[in-house]
Amino acid sequence: MLEDKFGRRFHYLRLSITDVCNFSCTYCLPDGYACDSDRDFLSLPEITTLVNSFAKLGTSKIRLTGGEPSLRKDLPQIIEQCAKTPGIDHVAMTSNGYKLDKCVDEWVAAGLDSINISIDSLDPRMFASITGHDKLESILGGIDKALTLGLKVKVNAVLMRQYNEAEFGGFLKWIKHMPISLRLIELMQTGDNVSFFNENHVSGEPLKQQLLQQGWGQIIRDKAAGPAQEFYHPEYAGNIGLIMPYSKDFCSTCNRLRIAATGKLHLCLFADQGLDIRPFLQNNDEMGLQRELVNLLGNKEATHWLQDGYTGATKHLAMLGG
Ligand code: GTP
Ligand code: 5AD
Ligand code: SF4
Repeated sequence: MLEDKFGRRFHYLRLSITDVCNFSCTYCLPDGYACDSDRDFLSLPEITTLVNSFAKLGTSKIRLTGGEPSLRKDLPQIIEQCAKTPGIDHVAMTSNGYKLDKCVDEWVAAGLDSINISIDSLDPRMFASITGHDKLESILGGIDKALTLGLKVKVNAVLMRQYNEAEFGGFLKWIKHMPISLRLIELMQTGDNVSFFNENHVSGEPLKQQLLQQGWGQIIRDKAAGPAQEFYHPEYAGNIGLIMPYSKDFCSTCNRLRIAATGKLHLCLFADQGLDIRPFLQNNDEMGLQRELVNLLGNKEATHWLQDGYTGATKHLAMLGG
């Protein structure tokens, strides 16, 4: 089992398979994707070596991220490879939903267990102005399909003062009868979005207080719970996860490691440049990689440094898959 010097255990790997994205979300890629990497993304054999090695070190959950992971043509093969790896019992994906309606059957057939979809507004015009795409209706249709197929669905909404601050009530109404987990995420400052962040960041704390006053109960989190504080209400089919990276102790329940699309290990979303493990993947050296991972984990810090306005080398989250 991968465990760091602070006693945190890492059973969960977030694997970015591309940094390309076709959306241009205001807080992430407002000018669209600019190709500033060599785009030499991990191949299926390299992913196989990587996932086998992590699984042997106790990883049981893989989340495929991007950019937009569904832009990779071999996505079904990647899902299938992860799902059939001994020790991996959960394959998840985070997607902008662009291809959800069309492709979800194929992803489920390949072995996908759950999906997180970004919907920052339930108003079609606002959705289009945030993402650059008039796709809300198709994405909502895709979510219905995903639920019918038995996928667990989470929906991510990033809180932004000038865009969706007034929509909290509408989101709550929506999940009254939708069996999904709605994640309300505090906007995070990245290298590229500093002025957007200053104009739009709102704290999730008042929403938490509102939920508690409206009869929502908070789940007690265990040591390896991951980032969300979770809330349930007996009259709602859905539940709520609040992700507040600026709150105290956010990092104490960190349970995840990240691999960027060209094979760099990131010990934190906001750590400095990733650590290159690609040679082990190119040489199919599982034993060497396992030793190296245990070694590199020694460098994981107790917390990120976001509170000081420091964003490390993270220009935007499409680089790393959030
Ligand atoms: P699950 O618990 O597997 O559902 O993952 P998740 O909620 O982390 O998944 P998702 O990819 O949908 O990410 C939701 C939001 O949480 C994104 O904005 C992520 O950037 C943010 N997030 C996830 N992990 C971390 C983390 O370790 N640190 C910080 N600061 N933010 C994170
Ligand atoms: N702050 C908070 N969340 C962000 N995401 C992307 N960039 C940011 C940011 N700067 C979210 C997306 C997606 C998830 C993977 O990360 O909306 O739901
Ligand atoms: Fe693409 Fe996700 Fe970034 Fe939006 S937040 S531009 S969907 S990577």
